[in-house]
Amino acid sequence: MNSDVKKVLISEAEIQQKVKELAERISKDYKGKHLLMICILKGAIMFYSDLARNISIPMAMDFMAVSSYGAGTKTSGEVRILKDLSGPAEGLDILIVEDILDSGNTLNYIENILKDRNPASLKICTLLDKPERREKPIVVDYVGFAIPDEFVIGYGLDYSERYRNLPYIGVLKEEVYASPAE
Ligand code: IMP
Ligand code: MG
Repeated sequence: MNSDVKKVLISEAEIQQKVKELAERISKDYKGKHLLMICILKGAIMFYSDLARNISIPMAMDFMAVSSYGAGTKTSGEVRILKDLSGPAEGLDILIVEDILDSGNTLNYIENILKDRNPASLKICTLLDKPERREKPIVVDYVGFAIPDEFVIGYGLDYSERYRNLPYIGVLKEEVYASPAE
């Protein structure tokens, strides 16, 4: 285990099991539709690629990057598009794939933008959900794990751009926030 990690919250095996379950549900629900799975960069990258590998129906991929955090561990509430979709969304069955739903500000913003582009349908899939911290009401159709209000890293999630490559979800030691490495 990485020495900055206090504890493993969700193991690699638990994640992979859940990814398979979600992919099966999505493959069933979107059969005969025009599925466009949108990865919200960078945090959802691992979840998205594992999920896509387990989808058994035809699907298209696209990517969007937004920023809402800076280097801290708390949301600023401000969302900006850093990278938009490469193609149109009109008439497609969009599934937004996100790493974690926290205050809900990010997904609320993305949802509003995409709704304006007239997709046939628009749903959300998130690996993690911190329900206690919600500020904006969000309807999520596919949730991997509800977790307590702790700052987590790994499997795409970062603290100051680090730890995204860990294959599990872990809780960071407090001293890492207090004296971040250079
Ligand atoms: P929201 O806009 O507050 O819902 O925040 C969603 C975004 O904040 C996610 O896409 C993550 O990038 C980031 N985030 C929220 N909680 C955590 C966490 O515990 N660890 C790492 N990133 C987080
Ligand atoms: Mg993110």
